[in-house]
Amino acid sequence: MRTTPRTSSPRRYLMCPPTHFTVTYSINPWMDPTKPVDLPLALAQWEDLRDRYRALGHTVELLAPDPALPDMVFAANGATVVEGRVLGAKFAHAERTAEAGAHLAWFRGNGWAADDVRAPEHVNEGEGDFAVTASWILAGRGFRSSPLSHDEAQEFFGRPVIGLELVDPRYYHLDTALCVLDDAGDEVMYYPDAFSPGSRAVLARLFPDALIATAEDAAALGLNAVSDGRNVLLPQAAVGLFEPLRRRGFEPIGMDLGELLKGGGSVKCCTQELRP
Ligand code: ARG
Repeated sequence: MRTTPRTSSPRRYLMCPPTHFTVTYSINPWMDPTKPVDLPLALAQWEDLRDRYRALGHTVELLAPDPALPDMVFAANGATVVEGRVLGAKFAHAERTAEAGAHLAWFRGNGWAADDVRAPEHVNEGEGDFAVTASWILAGRGFRSSPLSHDEAQEFFGRPVIGLELVDPRYYHLDTALCVLDDAGDEVMYYPDAFSPGSRAVLARLFPDALIATAEDAAALGLNAVSDGRNVLLPQAAVGLFEPLRRRGFEPIGMDLGELLKGGGSVKCCTQELRP
């Protein structure tokens, strides 16, 4: 039980409304094109998340949705921004390829210097596979981002990148299996079985005090969460995470993004953080 209070810091997020969200193809085990999506409900759930960030004092920037890109709502995948420098994405699947250009264009059109915005050489799906702590950038591989993108990110950001091998297709992006709770320190929560034995050992070494998620909470996509240092917005169905988060001094806030879960994403997938 932690007694010192946690403090949040104001964040800036980039989000894209699910105006054209549907599931017409399947590139992860959550996506079943035969299951209908309730679009008005998806929009309402997404608006709840956007409004919640704003109510907490955060800034939400908006990316224009494209009717040809139904997964664009998962804005976390479009780039990684650390200390104001932007490493663009390069998607593993053809269905999402064009999202990368939309993100780069947004940065170039919204005040980022050309030198600070880089189109990558190797496949990486942005914050889907890159997670930033105080000391490191954690980087997923195995399903989407190429291991070569890890070196590229290390060189571009000048921060040590720790490669982590994902082994369970349900947890195809790092942000489905691990969440950074405190990026002023090095505090995370994760689901060990999503990782190879070697990567599990690396995580145990780097984060001996991590909050370990159960299989049930991971399967509710409970690790696909966003923390501002105090408030942790997470899928409300991940009920087992609430008490452990509170004991650590965090304020868990349950969100219902059930329609977007049909695309294989939740809170974090919808949220790209623009780190100053
Ligand atoms: N349907 C999308 C895909 O499979 C979901 C992306 C979820 N985003 C995330 N950051 N995990 O690519």
